[in-house]
Amino acid sequence: MLVRVKTRSDPKTSEITPERVYRSRREIMALGASSLALAGLDAFALSEDWLKRRGFGDGPAFQGQDPGEAVTPFEHASAYNNFYEFGTDKGDPARYAGEMTVDPWSVEVTGEVAKPGTIAIEDLLANVDLEERIYRLRCVEAWSMVIPWIGFPVKRVLDRFEPAASAKYVEFTTLHRPEEMRGQRDFFSSIDWPYVEGLRLDEANHPLAIFAVGMYGRVLPNQNGAPLRLVVPWKYGFKSIKSIVRIRLMRRQPRTTWNVMAPYEYGFYANVNPEVDHPRWSQKTERRLPSSFFSPNRIETRMFNGYDEEVAPLYAGMNLRRKY
Ligand code: MTE
Repeated sequence: MLVRVKTRSDPKTSEITPERVYRSRREIMALGASSLALAGLDAFALSEDWLKRRGFGDGPAFQGQDPGEAVTPFEHASAYNNFYEFGTDKGDPARYAGEMTVDPWSVEVTGEVAKPGTIAIEDLLANVDLEERIYRLRCVEAWSMVIPWIGFPVKRVLDRFEPAASAKYVEFTTLHRPEEMRGQRDFFSSIDWPYVEGLRLDEANHPLAIFAVGMYGRVLPNQNGAPLRLVVPWKYGFKSIKSIVRIRLMRRQPRTTWNVMAPYEYGFYANVNPEVDHPRWSQKTERRLPSSFFSPNRIETRMFNGYDEEVAPLYAGMNLRRKY
């Protein structure tokens, strides 16, 4: 089944950026039923073909604007990236992430679970319904995009491994393969590889938290975190860790990359919050991409990136200035 989940905090029409690459949902839906019947018959490669059989196929370029879809052009979302494993320039990931092998790929699930194990990604994805989610992505550097992801709730994977009652947090780890990730070979890199992120278990189980395997109707480009990345739309982008190989359920809060490196600048929670500035810049506004010197496209940042209605209950009674 193909599900397009629409929430009240979906991007508004006023946020729409013209998009010519992305195909309309109607075309995708039309492909859905027949191609789904074929799903799973073929040897795995997370290919366009595979995605097509899961209901996301090639179609004519999207010309119109589906009301409520506010999409950043694919050329921007796949060329302006943060993926320090491939360098610190925004163009480095698109330039070098092709050097990363993404097939075969497996994910280890460990820690406070009844059934730990390592699972090949094709098995992980075998029985999940892929959904399209159009989410805002707000980077802590004060730029943002709107991206149509293809993915499924994180909870769907966690439940399969049966988290123990003692599990309170989830840690996610990116691939560590210096021979294919030039940033990991960089002697001057201040990051202690591999990249690690984490959530409280109830955050990870929230229906808005997804694992993405695709975007814009196609499989994830390597630079966007292929073959499996986290997307947590109400938090700063650095929480949405890419190219995940390990998931660990934990009793205690995991040590996460940016929080360990600069705890006064990057909190564990990292919820988007216009009231709490980064020590070196304001978080009140953001540059919605595409933007330029003459047309900066600066907009106001919203609490929880506009998803407050859905996620505020997770933080009831918490001091969000101290738990930034
Ligand atoms: N994941 C890994 N492994 N390494 C990174 O450097 N950068 C993060 C996040 N996930 C990063 C990562 C940051 S800072 C942001 S803003 C988003 O990825 C950017 O995602 P995008 O390039 O798909 O827009």
